[in-house]
Amino acid sequence: MPAYVIAGASRGLGLEFVHQLIAQGHTVIALARNPYAATGLTAIDNKNLHVIKADITDSVTLKAAAEETAKITGGSIDVLINNGAFWERRHMFHNILEYEDEASLLSDFNANWHTNVIGPILTTNAFLPLLRAGRTKKILTLSTGIADPELVRASGYAGQCAYSVSKCALEMVNLKFSLALKDEGFTCLAISPGVVNTSDAPRTPAQPPLQCGTLTHNA
Ligand SMILES: NC(=O)c1ccc[n+]([C@@H]2O[C@H](COP(=O)([O-])OP(=O)(O)OC[C@H]3O[C@@H](n4cnc5c(N)ncnc54)[C@H](OP(=O)(O)O)[C@@H]3O)[C@@H](O)[C@H]2O)c1
Repeated sequence: MPAYVIAGASRGLGLEFVHQLIAQGHTVIALARNPYAATGLTAIDNKNLHVIKADITDSVTLKAAAEETAKITGGSIDVLINNGAFWERRHMFHNILEYEDEASLLSDFNANWHTNVIGPILTTNAFLPLLRAGRTKKILTLSTGIADPELVRASGYAGQCAYSVSKCALEMVNLKFSLALKDEGFTCLAISPGVVNTSDAPRTPAQPPLQCGTLTHNA
């Protein structure tokens, strides 16, 4: 069975990847920056699941996680899923003109950049030796529809500015990895999961129930 590494697996879609992959009998390495707080992960009792501490913005913890993974899998993995991402409730839906001041704008753009762009680069680099030794050599990266300039233009949607800018850059990162690794037989794919309600927070009147893709374990 292929071995998967899921980066940012503590909750939401990452946790759902864990549930579905272990149900299919795969070996799953779930990376979480705070495993003790990841109660959805720690509640899973399955010999194929290995939870390892790693922050995707911290290459020291990522390299240590890759070493630990190699001991579990025998030195290879087959699929890396770059799932973890930053978004912050306060500024999430801002358009580029709505920041209260320049410091807030810079802070939000830097935080999105650091986690959503640099994070997957550091994660991919840390696990590349294990992927190279694997059979399928696949890197899956979670992007979003609002990283697509054509879709944003057509929809006229100016919100979620820093997030969509960072994810647009992430798609270029995915393309650059794809081109750099193509002669080694890698497949690098950036996907949008659609709109999925992964929030644990109670819905407010401003947040009507979503009509598509709601995760079963969060519903
Ligand atoms: N849900 C949607 O509708 C939607 C739509 C389009 C794209 N996406 C993309 O799909 C992916 C998953 O979305 P989601 O809704 O499941 O997100 P989420 O519920 O906000 O979960 C984010 C995950 O990323 C982890 N994370 C954040 N920063 C991290 C760091 N520095 N190191 C390690 N882990 C970190 C979080 O861990 P902690 O628990 O430690 O915070 C959490 O596990 C993201 O890449 C998102 O951009 C989602």
